Amino acid sequence: MENREWWKESVVYQVYPKSFQDSDGDGIGDIQGIIQRLDYLKELGVDVVWICPIYKSPMDDGGYDIADYYTIDNMFGTNKDFDALLEKAKMLGMKVLMDLVVNHTSDEHAWFQEALRDPESKYRDYYVFSEGIDGQPPNNWRTYFGESAWESVPNEDNMYYLHAFTKKQPDLNWENQEMREEIYQMINYWLDKGLGGFRIDAILNIKKRIEKGFFEPDGEDGLVFIGHWILNQPGIEVWLKEMNDRTFQPHNSMTVAEANVPSERLKEYIGSQGFFSMVFDFSYTDIDVPSTGEWFKFSGWTWELMKKHIFTNQLVTQENGWGALYLENHDQPRSIDKYIPASDINDYSKKMLATLFMLLRGTPFIYQGQELGMTNIQMDSMEEYDDIATHDQYSRAILSGFSPEEALAAMNRRSRDNSRTPMQWNTSKNSGFSQAEKTWMKVNPNYHMINAEAELVKADSVFHYYRQLILLRRDSRYQDTLVYGEFIPMNEQEDGTIIYQRVLDGKKVLVAINYTNQTQSTEILTEFDQYLLGNYDQPYQVGAKLSLRPYESVVLANF
Ligand code: NOJ
Repeated sequence: MENREWWKESVVYQVYPKSFQDSDGDGIGDIQGIIQRLDYLKELGVDVVWICPIYKSPMDDGGYDIADYYTIDNMFGTNKDFDALLEKAKMLGMKVLMDLVVNHTSDEHAWFQEALRDPESKYRDYYVFSEGIDGQPPNNWRTYFGESAWESVPNEDNMYYLHAFTKKQPDLNWENQEMREEIYQMINYWLDKGLGGFRIDAILNIKKRIEKGFFEPDGEDGLVFIGHWILNQPGIEVWLKEMNDRTFQPHNSMTVAEANVPSERLKEYIGSQGFFSMVFDFSYTDIDVPSTGEWFKFSGWTWELMKKHIFTNQLVTQENGWGALYLENHDQPRSIDKYIPASDINDYSKKMLATLFMLLRGTPFIYQGQELGMTNIQMDSMEEYDDIATHDQYSRAILSGFSPEEALAAMNRRSRDNSRTPMQWNTSKNSGFSQAEKTWMKVNPNYHMINAEAELVKADSVFHYYRQLILLRRDSRYQDTLVYGEFIPMNEQEDGTIIYQRVLDGKKVLVAINYTNQTQSTEILTEFDQYLLGNYDQPYQVGAKLSLRPYESVVLANF
């Protein structure tokens, strides 16, 4: 069996702090709110909590624009509150992960402010500045969000700085060793406090291949995607190794990188000596996004493709190291709306998705509200959207000839704000999220139907189904098989089903999924004679030929 690691056996819960629980009535979630809800997470059964950025920030990009790496933003509380959170988590046997955002800072970070104030200061080289060409930016790169990747420097002629995301997020220059040292010091500051590790943001972008000039545009805006010059560039491995050696590795931390790594390089990243514990794979969560990144257009994906991506990713990851499993996060709309036709959204299809993902090989991540089956929100106008990427995509949609109604419909389908609405705790004011008159983001009106309180008392709720899946992963009889067991795809050519085995030392678990609204009959090996779990109350008859009802999922074993 491969090496045991605490983070392989964990189940992670992702908290979007602005929307989790408001404790002081200002309409924004905070750390004390998270502390109040840790018992709920304990009941669900998770043992690691990842909290999206809570550092001091002007919040232009949901906190992924950090103005001070050492200070908790007062919107969320104080550094003392964070210490209290760590302490309570420890008492409950849970670890906490923070976000590590070191491809860029906020333009309000003291380093950047100093770089602007004094072009001779050492901080100038902490960022990427460049002269323009004939009054134009140094090149025509487009950021991840849609505009030019160069912003002109105020009060300086013909001078620009690079930003791969918003112009309020200048990119750091990792070539500068002193800057890197400061970053490692900061990482160790948090790890020394007892932090379990980090989710690492946009890390594949840190090595830049700066080229000036005009490149063939790939969109109506005359710009070209910056990724060709800043994603996974040769030489990046030196810094990733240096960072791991100096920080994560000595602390036995868990690290999960936001990184779509080409399979030939995967071992370097996630192998037993890899730079990270695991990476997120985007191939099935971004299955609805065209390769151009223009998510206002629909990719026209199919479940056959989804199955192919899942199987390929599992096999490639297994060959090279460890993976992270997720269906949702703060950059994705709700999974149920993405993967299931509106008329089929119900507890069967929600539990089917849960079964499919929670038992694959890797560490599962549950995004807040996913365990309740929360859904997308309907916004009536663009003013209701907070997310900067949503506004960018809307403008690009209009530029591409979408009518305002069509563009708004695309935002309703895919905006990141779909998953950033307040957590639905109960049927009281603002879904129990906040006592404020107005919350920072609209509460999904369906909280009267979908909320934690209702699901906690209903034995067959989506919440309890997630809980059972976690219990199954923790059951001493099945844990090793479900965590460390080999992933074996089954019935690969069959339409309508996804079937796989997890096998360790002759002990086998079979997961069978029907992802359609029609009954599917399928051949499975007759040796699976134990029924462990399923999403229908009349369980599958052990020993019978497998006939899967609409969206049915069953977990069988041969031990
Ligand atoms: C990825 C984060 O998940 C996303 O929310 C953010 O906008 C970008 N990185 C930039 O930091």
